[in-house]
Amino acid sequence: MGARYRPVMATDTNTSLRHGILSEESGEDREQLVQMLTKAYWMEIETVMSYIANSINPDGVRAQEIIESLETDIQEELGHARRFGERIKELYGVVPGSLDFHAEQSYLQPPDDQVDIVHVIKGVIEAETGAIEFYNQIIEFADGRDLVTQDMVIDILRDEEGHRRLFEGFLREYKAEGLA
Ligand SMILES: [Fe+2]
Ligand SMILES: [Fe+2]
Repeated sequence: MGARYRPVMATDTNTSLRHGILSEESGEDREQLVQMLTKAYWMEIETVMSYIANSINPDGVRAQEIIESLETDIQEELGHARRFGERIKELYGVVPGSLDFHAEQSYLQPPDDQVDIVHVIKGVIEAETGAIEFYNQIIEFADGRDLVTQDMVIDILRDEEGHRRLFEGFLREYKAEGLA
């Protein structure tokens, strides 16, 4: 898969880099990273969309804790999207426009009944699990190639692990009460 957008020239000054991911010889690695970061960017954007809907739709007393947690997460996921976008630019990529977006989170669509909080909790866990799996792949690829991206994604990974752990706790409670 080729780059969707023409990358910005990496060396349009006479002070070209000889080391690191911004060097001319790292062009292929850089392109691969930009592709991965673009996918991560879209995952965050879709998560923001899904969490907004799922923080508004739920009904019932029990839903309030979930709503509040999702409201906090929305801000964090938005921050992640911005960080991925900024790193795409630093690697001479272009942050894509909305027409490139393809939705994938079938599991985070609104449930049939808006008191079905377990559906939301399970959907969030699935989204966070997907993020954790993919960010680990980026971290692995970036190892020895781009430690700055690796460092950033490790930081974001920790947030996702925290989100997942929190919602696992919610699910445990529902299971303990025979509701999940
Ligand atoms: Fe995120
Ligand atoms: Fe998350």
